[in-house]
Amino acid sequence: HFGIAEAPLLKGRRILVTSGPTHEPIDPVRYIANRSSGKQGHAIAAAARAAGAEVILVSGPAEVADPKGVKVIHAETAQQMLAAVEESLPVDAAVFAAAVADWRVADASDQKIKKTAGGAPTLTLVENPDILATIARHGTLRPRLVVGFAAETQEVVAHARDKRLRKGCDWIVANDVSPETGIMGGDVNTVHLVTAAGVEDWPSASKAEVARHLVARMAAELAGEAR
Ligand code: CTP
Ligand code: CA
Repeated sequence: HFGIAEAPLLKGRRILVTSGPTHEPIDPVRYIANRSSGKQGHAIAAAARAAGAEVILVSGPAEVADPKGVKVIHAETAQQMLAAVEESLPVDAAVFAAAVADWRVADASDQKIKKTAGGAPTLTLVENPDILATIARHGTLRPRLVVGFAAETQEVVAHARDKRLRKGCDWIVANDVSPETGIMGGDVNTVHLVTAAGVEDWPSASKAEVARHLVARMAAELAGEAR
């Protein structure tokens, strides 16, 4: 367990969190999505609120309920999520916990696609905007602290280090989702915090505890502490 008793508060800070999956329509009744419950992102939003921050949660269609005391903007697709995030700037810090679909269907059908004798349809995919990278490279509206997530099944820290540099964010919370550790959708999370200074291995903990610890680290960073 973490010692966070003396954590500085986030009073007066504006914090943005993305959470949950995105759904990318194929037609009015079908979609492409990532596996994501929204538990970790929603827990971070709740922890930031409990620490006194003004919190904006941009949530995809998550399984968990909206946290209390937080402004929630619901988005379905990656493009809608990006628009909601951009409208919410400026913020002091942003945490990108959403499992954004990397691709969407190039031209989703307005009508339900029917089975025909012609066989199965072919879906053409196009890449979605990278919300984290877009915000991390925003000129004047870039938040002071930009935190990304990386769910990996192997070489967790190496991939996270690359991702931190590629995306231009300050920190990556590298999430070990290999079968022997954090089961996707479960309540326990095993993470490593990758910063410019190096890598911290955090003990396996509940998603609520990981959220509180991350919020405490963010508060210290925003307060200008070396840590
Ligand atoms: N992310 C985002 N917008 C996207 C894709 C990812 O904001 N279109 C964010 C996620 O919320 C997360 C981080 O980027 O904070 C890393 O997401 P991840 O899927 O691990 O990275 P990718 O660059 O998509 O790489 P890959 O899926 O190939 O590992
Ligand atoms: Ca991805």
